[in-house]
Amino acid sequence: MNAIDQYAVFGHPINHSKSPRIHRLFAAQTQQQLCYEAQDVPAGSFTSTVDTFFRHGGKGLNCTVPLKELAWQCADKLSQLAQFSKAVNTLTLQEDGTLLGDNTDGTGLVTDLTINHSISLLNSRILILGAGGASRGIIGPLMEKSPAHIVIANRTVEKAITLSNEFSLLGDISGCGYDAIANQQFDLILNATSASLTGKLPPLADNILNENGCCYDLAYSNQPTTFVKWGTTHGAETSLDGLGMLVEQAAEAFYIWRDVRPETSAVIELLNSERI
Ligand code: ATR
Repeated sequence: MNAIDQYAVFGHPINHSKSPRIHRLFAAQTQQQLCYEAQDVPAGSFTSTVDTFFRHGGKGLNCTVPLKELAWQCADKLSQLAQFSKAVNTLTLQEDGTLLGDNTDGTGLVTDLTINHSISLLNSRILILGAGGASRGIIGPLMEKSPAHIVIANRTVEKAITLSNEFSLLGDISGCGYDAIANQQFDLILNATSASLTGKLPPLADNILNENGCCYDLAYSNQPTTFVKWGTTHGAETSLDGLGMLVEQAAEAFYIWRDVRPETSAVIELLNSERI
């Protein structure tokens, strides 16, 4: 049988996911024959739905909130980045029938920052807001770009300290609460909290961003997020949301699955033009 290769994104909720559109654009651009669908999968039925998907011709799966930690548990093997991040956003069926788990989020972020926006991370002072799964997924790839220092600030201070300790062998990294950064300055502030989705922000001092500094919200929205607006009003040279990261992490997954690297700029441009 020569059935078309099946891919999907699982999440809960999933109805606003842009992943099917992105992967279909990649497939058309690279002339790959494949099918990519979005499926609403609650955490409780994740394992059985993954099993059914791969038994019925599935080749690869993206997993998004709140399923990335479950995908990490369900992978038979893990890439190094996935091991560190304890979260998997890309599952790939191997020839021997096992599932390989990858995490392409951090690589997607770094590509968007350094290639699409020419933001150098070398010797930079980086502040990450939040110490949850989103933060964990980006630290390894950020460290590979040799920043001077990474500070993780979190409302629950112990979580920031624990997370920074896990990555301390990779470079200069520390964890603290928001009070402790009140008198510090950073070149890049990354919002990895879930606060901005509800219009809230962690408490940040007005002068925390260096001149020519950049703000980046890992979340994206058609309208500027609360954190993107904060950056704009606090002198950021660039204040971006995570649309570019979304496209770049998808491109990494597509490359893992198809061994073809899609061209991302046209896709980012198209999605940006569709913001209302
Ligand atoms: P994710 O996997 O998306 O990172 P998560 O693990 O629930 O989600 O983590 C959410 C992060 O956003 C946490 O760092 C959380 O801070 P706490 O660890 O103190 O809970 C942070 N967060 C959520 N709402 C926040 C708010 N209103 N102000 C500051 N931080 C907030």
